[in-house]
Amino acid sequence: MADEAKSRPLGVTDEFTVTPWTVKGNVNYDKLIEQFGTSRIGDSILEKFKKITGEIHPFLRRGIFYSHRDLDWILDRYEAGEEFFLYTGRGPSESVTLGHLVPWIFTKYLQDKFGAELYFQFTDDEKFLNSDKLTLEKTSKYSYSNMLDLIALGFDPKKTFVFTDTRYMRTLYPIAAQIAKHVTLSTAKAVFGFENSTNVGMIFFPTLEAVPCFLPSVLKGKNIPCLIPAAIDQDPYWRGIAREVAPKLGFYKPAQMHCKFLPGLGQGGKMSASDPETAIFTTDSPAIVEKKVKAAFTGGRDTVEEQRRLGARADICPIYHYYYYLFEENDSELRRIYDDCTSGRLLCGDCKTLLAARVREFIERHQDKREKAKETIDDFIVEDIEGGLRKRSEMK
Ligand code: TYM
Repeated sequence: MADEAKSRPLGVTDEFTVTPWTVKGNVNYDKLIEQFGTSRIGDSILEKFKKITGEIHPFLRRGIFYSHRDLDWILDRYEAGEEFFLYTGRGPSESVTLGHLVPWIFTKYLQDKFGAELYFQFTDDEKFLNSDKLTLEKTSKYSYSNMLDLIALGFDPKKTFVFTDTRYMRTLYPIAAQIAKHVTLSTAKAVFGFENSTNVGMIFFPTLEAVPCFLPSVLKGKNIPCLIPAAIDQDPYWRGIAREVAPKLGFYKPAQMHCKFLPGLGQGGKMSASDPETAIFTTDSPAIVEKKVKAAFTGGRDTVEEQRRLGARADICPIYHYYYYLFEENDSELRRIYDDCTSGRLLCGDCKTLLAARVREFIERHQDKREKAKETIDDFIVEDIEGGLRKRSEMK
């Protein structure tokens, strides 16, 4: 038993699991900082953000982006005049959820505030390799559809470079090969929990997710610092591969900012595309969105009388968390919702009705922008040709 526990990858505990492919249970975020060896985003970093940007974004104020590696280093260099680039990505599936938007909204904010380029990877290969059902045709199609959600958030086409692994392989592969040469099978097994039955595509794949950490440095012929905003489930790629290999290849170690998971609509667990009943998809019709919100689990009591007397439990309530993450930017309003909820003044039905209207409005606006993104998508996609940074729209 002890041996078995020892061989589990970091992030897999008796209480919860956080790996790139599975997030379940009651995630203890403090324990993840400890296990993964990251640092908490504390006051000194918040102060630095305030000094540079003049404000502290709600995701930072509220501890949604809560952990990091080398963020202080990258901000110091930025202050000294050295630019960095952003890197993040998506394992494409049929639809994007509100959960995926959390790191992307923050990435867009960072692009605006720091004028940083963004490199965005769609891992159609990963999704194919990790599924019994999906074909490569399907996962490539999903990449296109998920790209619309990304573009809908307003990224700057001049500073944003989007690619899908299978269509950008000529550019990616030489860097992947260099990384792969430094990663042993035993490292891949220890970091990701791969087993003898894992297909070798999956075993190679982590090198590909590490490639964009160095891609701009290679394409531009100079070392450029990289900052990765993502939820903490992606950490093994950086901890186990990219940061280990970087010094061996002469690159900077990529810095990270890790966020927590937007919960699903049920009791516990993250919002996940593979759990459609408890996820809000950006492609859901506004009527479905309202229906889903109204059917959500809450921290409410069994009867109105009990709730008036005891108050509800905001801390375990996904509805409250949606206000907290995305749907109430004003801290004093959020506090009022919390107080009204926990004191029994606000009943769950009313709270859901208010939230449902906000989510519906958000989705309607997002869907409009998503539709418009079809016209500009070629301004974002890079072609797999010499130099690697020419946009599809420049090739016409
Ligand atoms: P994927 O498609 O599982 O997730 C895309 C991004 O969304 C984050 N995420 C969430 N964030 C908040 N709340 C949630 N409920 C939630 N669910 C998912 C993920 O952490 C991720 O940032 N292998 C990757 C694709 C990828 C990538 C990257 C991701 C390639 N390169 C670089 C981040 C950074 C994947 O399958 O992500």
